[in-house]
Parts: sequence; C-alpha cells; structure tokens
Amino acid sequence: MKPTGSFYFHCDPTASHYLKLVLDAIFCPHGGDIKNEIVWHYRRWTGLAKKFQELHDTIFFYVKSADYKFNILYTPYTEGSKQRKEQGVLHRFKEGEKPHLVSDKSTDEKGVRENDVWQIPFVAPSAKERLGFPTQKPEALLERIIKASTDEGDVVLDAYCGCGTTVAVAERLKRKWIGIDITYQSVSVILKRIEDAFGKNVLETIQLDGVPRDMNSAEALAHKKDDRLRKEFEKWAVLTYSNNRALINEKKGGDKGIDGIAYFKTGKIDNAKIIFQVKSGGVKRGDIATLRGDMARENAALGCLITLEEPTRNMIQEAKDAGQFKHEDMGRSYDVINIITVKEIVEDGKRLDIPMSLEVLKAAKKADDSEQMGLL
Ligand SMILES: C[S@@+](CC[C@H](N)C(=O)[O-])C[C@H]1O[C@@H](n2cnc3c(N)ncnc32)[C@H](O)[C@@H]1O
Repeated sequence: MKPTGSFYFHCDPTASHYLKLVLDAIFCPHGGDIKNEIVWHYRRWTGLAKKFQELHDTIFFYVKSADYKFNILYTPYTEGSKQRKEQGVLHRFKEGEKPHLVSDKSTDEKGVRENDVWQIPFVAPSAKERLGFPTQKPEALLERIIKASTDEGDVVLDAYCGCGTTVAVAERLKRKWIGIDITYQSVSVILKRIEDAFGKNVLETIQLDGVPRDMNSAEALAHKKDDRLRKEFEKWAVLTYSNNRALINEKKGGDKGIDGIAYFKTGKIDNAKIIFQVKSGGVKRGDIATLRGDMARENAALGCLITLEEPTRNMIQEAKDAGQFKHEDMGRSYDVINIITVKEIVEDGKRLDIPMSLEVLKAAKKADDSEQMGLL
C-alpha cells in the first residue's frame, strides 16, 4: 500500500471486536492508524429473537500513514433540510446570538458532512442491481469508500471481490482496479457485469491472470488434487465456452452429471435449454449416451460435452447420430450434441454461437440462489 493509501475492512459484530485488535497490531506499530469505525445501518427482517434487532455491519477504516488521501464527502441538502436549517438560524438569531456563531461545523454550502453512520439499503433479492450473490454489497456503499479515499486514476484493490461491486464502481468512477477472487465463477460474473454496464470494448482493457490460457495451464487446473479447484476447471470451461452466459450447477447428488445450464430463445416467448458436461479424464462413447439420457431427463434441446482429451471416432459418430435442432428464428440448424475440446476453447477461441436468453437465466439464477454458490 502507498503511504497515501487507505484500507477498509468490512465485517459484522460477531467478530469485529477481535478483528479490530488484529488490524491495530498490523497498522499501528508502523505509523498507521484507525480513522473510523463505520457503522453500516440497513433495514431487514431479523425475526423475533430476545434481544434488540441486529441492523448493522461494521467497516474499519485504517490508513498506513498520516499522508493518507481523504476527500470530504457531503450529503446535499434536501429542500426540507434547507428550510429547517434556515429556520434554525433564524430562531437562534432571534434569541440574541450572532449569526456567525450559529454555523454548524458539520455543514456548509455543499450539504451535511458524511458521518460514521451510513444508512444504505441492502441489495434486496428483487433489486435490479442484484446478481445472485448472497453477500453482494450495494454500489452506494463502495461508491462512498472509493470517492472518499481515491481520485480518478488511483488504484482500488478488492482481494475478495465476489460479484465485483468494487470493480464495477471503480470502473464507473474512472479508477484503475484490481479484483481478486478464488473462484472462476466470480471472474465470470464480473466480466459479464462489466460488459453489461460499460459495453463489450471494456473487456479489451481488462487483463486476466490466473485463468487457463493454454493447454498446459488448463491441464494443470483440471488435475489439481483439491476437489474444489478441480471444480473450478469445470466452471471455467463451461463459463468460458458460453461467454459467461451459463449457470453453474452446484447441486450435489441426483443430477451431478450436469455441470452447467443455459437457455436460448427459440421464438418470441419460447426458450430452450442447453446442458453442459465437462470431462477431464478419458472419454468414451458411453459418455455421449449418458449425456443423451441427461438431456431427455432435463428436457434439454442441446447438449455440450467439453472434454480435455480428444474424443474418439465412435463418440463423434454417436454425437452425429443424435441429429440436428432446427432453430426457426436463426434460420439454421445446430447439432443436438456438440463435442468441444478444451484445446478448441483455449487455442482457437471457440465459443457457443447461439444468442442466449438472459432473462430466463436471471430468473433461474434467483430461483437457484439458495442451493448454488456453495463457496460464496
Ligand atoms: C463476501 S464475498 C465478497 C462480496 C463482494 N464484496 C461483492 O459485493 O460481491 C467473499 C468472496 O471472497 C472469495 N474468497 C474466499 N476465499 C478467498 C481467497 N482465499 N482468496 C481470494 N478470494 C477468496 C469468495 O469466493 C467470495 O467471492
């Protein structure tokens, strides 16, 4: 961190008192300091527990040195508060005080100075901003932090960036940014969020690190010992091939063969389903038969088998035998079963070329929220 930098740490009251000690131990001996303990206050239904309602989280604001950057923020006056202020001045003036004595230090012509209690609504499950992450933070919260501690062109880093609220706000406010997350799903959601908000061209300005770019790194990810990391390979394959338009299947058990689902429009109101399966080990003809079975059960129009190893001739034949799907709107046909190799994805940039139905996906994502995103 630069001497001018600031560090914001969000947590809730279950651990905030312990974490403050830890942060003090990190920052204070080296000339840093805590500047604020910010209370983020929101409304939500908390049930009827035998205590006061818990309606706040905590954000610790630390700095590395006394040279930290800080832009004073103001909440502009509303018409009502302006009137009340004027009445207040008038009233106190009448009582014999001199006008220059009545100015309140926390206010000036720009509005009321921000204080350390922030009233910012939660991102409601039905909100437009909502992306399906249970821990998604409101953009307004990050906007306040970023505006207070940085200027245009400064760097904002979020080391646990989730669905990318920090990244999206930093991009909008013309800051440079670095987002880090352990799951590829997060990277995928952020790429889509940024593309939806700022257009396709912005993707060219983003540098992606730590995701497979060639066969060696794809193989390395696919063969990781840790189950969760191996699952990242499947997510990466499905999301990359679908241009971040598929929904990852996190459910364990019954339908474990399906790694992802996407929808595409077949008419004005009709949508059809595509299912994805990813194989990182030896593939055989039986895998296509299994995919066909899963497609029938799931009522899917198309199936994609993404494989790290080259498919056998028998597999290719079996896939061909599944026939074609006629897409009336697009005026063309698609193979019902597609076999895609990871090599084609990383070396040839092969991507699914059917326009996806994002509304259906969004609805499915919301319905699926409670079961998916196990890591988040
Ligand atoms: C609470 S969420 C962040 C939510 C984010 N503020 C937002 O608004 O979307 C925490 C994130 O940290 C990620 N994570 C967990 N452990 C991690 C690690 N060791 N390194 C990087 N990211 C990690 C999780 O995948 C998750 O997306």
